[in-house]
Amino acid sequence: MGSTNRALFERACRVTPGGVNSPVRAFQAVGGSPYFVARAEGPFVWDVEGRRYVDYVQSYGASILGHAHPAVVEAVSAAARRGTTYGAPTEAEVVLAEEIARRVPGCEQVRLVGTGTEAAMSAVRVARGYTGRDRVVKFAGCYHGHADALLASGGSGVATLGLPGSAGVPAGAVADTVVSPFNRVPELGSDVACVLVEPVAANMGLVPPAEGFLAGLREACDSVGALLVFDEVITGFRVGRGGASEWSGVCPDLWCFGKVIGGGLPLAAFGGRREVMEVLAPTGPVYQAGTLSGNPLATAAGLAVLGELGPEAYSILSATAAELASGLLAAAGRAGVPLQVPRVGPLLGLFFADEPVVDYEGARAAAAGDRYARFFRAMLERGVAFAPGAYEAVFPSLAHGPEELAHTMAAAEEALSSLVD
Ligand SMILES: Cc1ncc(COP(=O)(O)O)c(C=O)c1O
Repeated sequence: MGSTNRALFERACRVTPGGVNSPVRAFQAVGGSPYFVARAEGPFVWDVEGRRYVDYVQSYGASILGHAHPAVVEAVSAAARRGTTYGAPTEAEVVLAEEIARRVPGCEQVRLVGTGTEAAMSAVRVARGYTGRDRVVKFAGCYHGHADALLASGGSGVATLGLPGSAGVPAGAVADTVVSPFNRVPELGSDVACVLVEPVAANMGLVPPAEGFLAGLREACDSVGALLVFDEVITGFRVGRGGASEWSGVCPDLWCFGKVIGGGLPLAAFGGRREVMEVLAPTGPVYQAGTLSGNPLATAAGLAVLGELGPEAYSILSATAAELASGLLAAAGRAGVPLQVPRVGPLLGLFFADEPVVDYEGARAAAAGDRYARFFRAMLERGVAFAPGAYEAVFPSLAHGPEELAHTMAAAEEALSSLVD
């Protein structure tokens, strides 16, 4: 105790590769060394040196209510007193699955897993098992976790580190993965098992789907008998009550969820039509399992979060995000800094670019240079934490109120002016 950020990072680097348990946290893209969090509450995190930040990372979207929300803390504490894991089914798993199915029309069955990576990997396995085909189409700049077959041209940390994919992935593992440009409907062959997409791309900054893109994917899939998979690990229960499928009016065959439904604990899910999901063991031949799947602490947290997310919550979140977007744009205008702040409901992105970004190429061009890194550092110095990578989205929570927004705007005014050379 009493350690500084730097001292902890030095110790961490001795015992953990790069000092972190997920690469983007190492600050390589923005310079300097990471702050180590001591605690968090509502819109704030405090580092081990006692410095407070208005936090727009919110665990990359896992905390939509803000940190340590009393309903979540109470639900998790109560669940812990009843035992932390059983390896047998619980009522809370049933209630959570029912709640997901109620919110997301068409998603009749879900299976709970531990991470978004597992959800995407398992959804692809289901699609392959259901169709009897191998090929998977994904989009450049979309991130679906770190399963071998899905890392190619991934956004998020893969993009931050400038990697085309990952070493250690055998050619065979990606032989059936086809990468297509986002926002263009690809031609599909009859060997395609599924098209996997982030319906609102949120791992290359934020790139909304172009008019007709998602409907075009639906049509293309239907024309060859492929399944459409929406990876809603970020958008699910965030862009609205029913996520991006409700928002866009396009219904996929399979969904991946994570982040919000775990309430800050390790929980994710994949789901779809009953007839598709029933290919899973024990009803069908597609194997998938997990010791901690449906964990009682995580399901309690997820249910507590969903309990707070009625329609009014989404109006508040969207209004907060809209105010943040317009404030940042106005400050950038005054400073003469070209900035794009795309927004879909409560989700925001930041691109230092003259024109709206529509695909990964545009996102990479906007991320080139040091503007994001300089903006990030200037904001951090002023007590506002954005993600330490230009490809991440901005996550205002329900706990971000007028004071935090005012603090953010004042900091942004100075930070953006400092970018003018
Ligand atoms: C859209 C999307 N899918 C999948 C994942 C992987 O989730 P996890 O980090 O929980 O494995 C992420 C993580 O950021 C994500 O944003």
